[in-house]
Amino acid sequence: MSYNIALVKGDGIGPEIVDSAVEVLCEIGKKYNREFSFTPYAAGGNAIDKYGIPLPKETVDGCKASDSVLLGAVGGPKWDTLSGDKRPEKALLGLRSELGLFTNLRPAKIFSSLKDACTLRPDIIEKGFDLVIVRELTGGIYFGERGRRTGKYGEEAFDTEAYSKFEIERIARVAFETAQKRRKKLTSIDKANVLETSRLWRETVHEIAKEYPDVEVSDMLVDNAAMQLVRDPSQFDVVVTSNMFGDILSDEASQITGSIGMLASASLGSTKCGLYEPIHGSAPDIAGKNIANPIATILSASMMLRYSLDLQEEADTIDKAVEKTLNDGLRTADIAKGKEYLSTDEITKEIIKRL
Ligand code: IPM
Ligand code: MG
Repeated sequence: MSYNIALVKGDGIGPEIVDSAVEVLCEIGKKYNREFSFTPYAAGGNAIDKYGIPLPKETVDGCKASDSVLLGAVGGPKWDTLSGDKRPEKALLGLRSELGLFTNLRPAKIFSSLKDACTLRPDIIEKGFDLVIVRELTGGIYFGERGRRTGKYGEEAFDTEAYSKFEIERIARVAFETAQKRRKKLTSIDKANVLETSRLWRETVHEIAKEYPDVEVSDMLVDNAAMQLVRDPSQFDVVVTSNMFGDILSDEASQITGSIGMLASASLGSTKCGLYEPIHGSAPDIAGKNIANPIATILSASMMLRYSLDLQEEADTIDKAVEKTLNDGLRTADIAKGKEYLSTDEITKEIIKRL
């Protein structure tokens, strides 16, 4: 069986970390006799430079036709002054929406060997944590009407948050199903004390909850959630929230794992084809220096094997190899705490050795 994977390497450290993940996949292919073929596509800043637009049609079509998409990161200072629709980030938003990827799974757990890289107090980390943020990805304020106009005080800008009941129902179902496969605890995060979209969100989650009586569900306001995440992250199992709240809370969750360079994500829709990417950005300051941490991208490739290609054993092998590498004390610069560290290439080789 051969799997056709679209590669969107993107900008900054994107190409380096995607190359690392590809090396790992090739090795897994050899080990388990699977054939992966990779087709690169342009998106983000590099596509702007080459084609004048962040998301060429060829990229969208190629990704749609693939079994799955592996993405690095897009964006950088070079393109920061472009207007909204022409920015590299538009490529990411465009791919999510064109591929109908309404679910974003962002797992965050503490690796025991990285506890000392965590910024929380030892007694808090001691309890450990293992949570998944289920972020709605194709609706809300990211995709609402926006613009400039003249208001009461002169020039103003606006962005609109809108959610249909349908969109909330479908993401809620994914969240309940995710919880069923884990510790059966779901926290729905909103701002229902202020926002009407949140009130519909809450109502709808409660309705859908009736279909999943085995899952314990509770609501939490987003400001409180931001606080609870650093006060006691062990209280969370599955978290479901809107596009923007999920964006913000997932960065917070990543920081308490020790490094944003460790967190993978899966964006899924109603077909098997998903988009897998690290949750961090393109880190232009360290691009091309061979010091970026490729682990988030390698773990994203593992999620791809798990969720899109149904290769569970292969995915487990990657996850274990990463864990072993960390347990053996090997580190990249971001998690080395000033001590000795390996380059992107070196840590990739070490992970491959442990597959
Ligand atoms: C993320 C990123 C993106 C987002 C940006 C780059 C558009 O922050 O995937 O979390 O806001 O969704
Ligand atoms: Mg983000």
